[in-house]
Amino acid sequence: PEITASETAAAEAPYGIPLERDHPFDPPAAVMALHRGAEMRRMRYYPEGRLGWLVTSHRLARKVLADTRFSSTLGSPAQVPIPMPALEAYLDFEGDFPLTPGMFIEMDPPDHTRLRRKLTGVFTVKRMKQLEPRIAAHVQDRLDALAAGPNPADLVAEFAVPVPAMMICELLGVPYDQRERFEADSRAIFTTDETGEGKQAAMLNLFAFIGELVAAKRANPTDDLLSDLAADPELADEEVAGMAILLLVAGHETTAKMLALGTMALLENRDQWELLRARPELMAGGVEELLRYLTIIHTGLIRQVKEDFEFEGHQIKAREYVTVSVQTANRDEAHFIEPEKLDVTGDAKGHLTFGHGVHQCLGQQLARMEMRIAFAGLIERFPGLRLAVPVAEVPLVTGQSFYGVAELPVTW
Ligand code: HEM
Repeated sequence: PEITASETAAAEAPYGIPLERDHPFDPPAAVMALHRGAEMRRMRYYPEGRLGWLVTSHRLARKVLADTRFSSTLGSPAQVPIPMPALEAYLDFEGDFPLTPGMFIEMDPPDHTRLRRKLTGVFTVKRMKQLEPRIAAHVQDRLDALAAGPNPADLVAEFAVPVPAMMICELLGVPYDQRERFEADSRAIFTTDETGEGKQAAMLNLFAFIGELVAAKRANPTDDLLSDLAADPELADEEVAGMAILLLVAGHETTAKMLALGTMALLENRDQWELLRARPELMAGGVEELLRYLTIIHTGLIRQVKEDFEFEGHQIKAREYVTVSVQTANRDEAHFIEPEKLDVTGDAKGHLTFGHGVHQCLGQQLARMEMRIAFAGLIERFPGLRLAVPVAEVPLVTGQSFYGVAELPVTW
């Protein structure tokens, strides 16, 4: 029998997106090779080998992310049934999995719009400007602690993790000294090692912890985001909890990964570190360039096709998954000049590290401000900072949705 082009494509489809990096700052060579072969291709998904798609070019990445026929409701293991009374309300869509209440990153309009709108005022550039002195205070606090502590030190534990964690806790009104109640669970949600049950347990723990806080804030409001959300009559309790969990989780792992990996990249490209030191006005552009060059969005952004339609000459079918490889899109020569180079004076405009379309990162202004202040503080306070171990000995995290380093031993 004749073998069709689509059968050949299916037979050659890679199993999952390659995750092992050959060089700490570059996308896996295997995923770059897929990108050079075709901007869109068949891919098989774990665990059962279901056929879907992989999109690797900048052009198509934007196109997929801007089109809501590519749904953000995935029925992934992170979406767990929450045993709360209002859950039935979330079951009125076609699919096997209920949506997690409040978790609007996994919803489509109009549910997504209704919840995201509640937060857009909080995350404007102007509101973030007002937070600037608080970020600066947290950064100073951690720099003082580093200077006073042992040398060498682990920059991940002493600086990269606490700065964004303190900030998001303060914004939400979650006590930072109770962080052991959410840190391990927020990490478990993003790992690719954890089973569906593991993620479900982590999510349930987070709902229990934040749910208690929501009730307490309703009874005794304080000046923070969680109290404001708890006082909103249009939001159900479990929605408030879900939104807060989303912010807590999205707001701290990501920025932490960028701070540590970004520092490592600047130390390994010393001329770039020195440039930022000599010309602090380059910092805003430098942060964009680090976001593009490092692309910590490691497993890509995943969507599920809502209906059958033709896309770029391919017949795509309802319920197929599509992975948008942000790493390759951010290294696409059709969009960026010399994308394989880290150049803090370059033009990183249009990078997709914060996504694109209706789900584009809500916290991006906060993240940018944290990174600018944190990198600037580090360079100013420790101009002679260097790695305390050979690069090859820095442990990489490749088994999570976000790429980064597990530890960064530094000395000064
Ligand atoms: C969404 C990246 C920091 C809150 C996203 C998305 C990306 C992203 C790629 C889109 C996901 C998708 O389309 O499926 C990052 C990176 C960060 C960062 C690289 C740091 C360097 C933050 C911070 C916060 C935050 C600090 C909150 C304080 C959110 C929220 C969404 C989101 C709430 C969901 C938006 C929606 O679905 O409408 N982020 N993020 N992020 N991010 Fe961030």
